[in-house]
Amino acid sequence: MSADIALALRGVTKRYGRTHALTGLDLAVDSGCIYGLLGPNGAGKSTALRILLGLVRPHSGTVEVWGRAVGRDGILQTGAVGAMVEKPAFYEYFSGWRNLTMSAALSGRVVPAEIEAVLKRVRLWGRHKDKVGAYSHGMRQRLGIAQALIPRPRLLVLDEPAQGLDPQGLAEVRDLLRELCADGMTILLSSHLLHEVELICDHVGIIAGGRLVAQGPVAQMISGDGGYELRVDDQARALSVISASELVARHAVENGAIRVWLREDGPEQLNSALVSAGVGVRALIPRRPALEEVYLDIAGADTASGTEDIGQ
Ligand SMILES: Nc1ncnc2c1ncn2[C@@H]1O[C@H](COP(=O)(O)OP(=O)(O)OP(=O)(O)O)[C@@H](O)[C@H]1O
Ligand SMILES: [Mg+2]
Repeated sequence: MSADIALALRGVTKRYGRTHALTGLDLAVDSGCIYGLLGPNGAGKSTALRILLGLVRPHSGTVEVWGRAVGRDGILQTGAVGAMVEKPAFYEYFSGWRNLTMSAALSGRVVPAEIEAVLKRVRLWGRHKDKVGAYSHGMRQRLGIAQALIPRPRLLVLDEPAQGLDPQGLAEVRDLLRELCADGMTILLSSHLLHEVELICDHVGIIAGGRLVAQGPVAQMISGDGGYELRVDDQARALSVISASELVARHAVENGAIRVWLREDGPEQLNSALVSAGVGVRALIPRRPALEEVYLDIAGADTASGTEDIGQ
């Protein structure tokens, strides 16, 4: 196994009674990247994270961290791994500072300068003496990430870090994760916020029905033919030109704009055809498919057909 792969799950299976939470899950997370585990509710994302952290035992399969098999206790026992799974729990009447100090004490190592650095990193320095009970949801999420950073991990595992955050909170968490990644940390996060994954993650794995149905670099996942968005002065006339045109493979009307997929790439020919028919073309914009479209296509497809690898 390559040392460039930080974390791998191989053939991991987990059942809860008759519920098959995971069925032979294979997952590979490259070192130094932000990997997003995407999937609908109940897909098995949290179960996968709990298994690799040793919080839940799988029925079969293995977990490897930087090429070394991890024992039954999961990767938290290997050191160098920080995690935030589920809603982080804190002592409400104690300050953020005191909560972090207590959690550092549990790991046997309290270094005030490091706690200060972590609080500054998550931008809670200045509010660190306030009681956690008075923190906003976004501040609690950031304190949860701070807690996960206390062991100075090389690998950070976060279950739904963007959950419930407002746009400002999302941007703060996004910036923080990007900074940590730039410093060489590997991050595995789960989410069902497609747009966030598209913005934050380098790689994405799509899990549905307990199986990985696709994984690859986000840039490659969304590089397919998204067609062109067409804005015109006379939509009815444009649609009749498009319907009759041999240039157009298919078209759709979305949010008041026409989207066309061409048989061969030649938007200037479509432009001339429209202009010749008296249609004023205001814009003809190449579109990439959003991760949402890729996701809906893949997660909605028959998962029994196996994993679609989008390449490296
Ligand atoms: N402790 C448990 N006991 C019984 N069933 C469970 C337990 N934990 C998870 N499951 C079941 O396993 C399946 C996968 O759940 P999991 O929580 O891993 O999904 P998820 O992808 O994290 O979903 P969500 O997006 O809602 O967080 C679901 O059918 C769930 O009901
Ligand atoms: Mg979950």
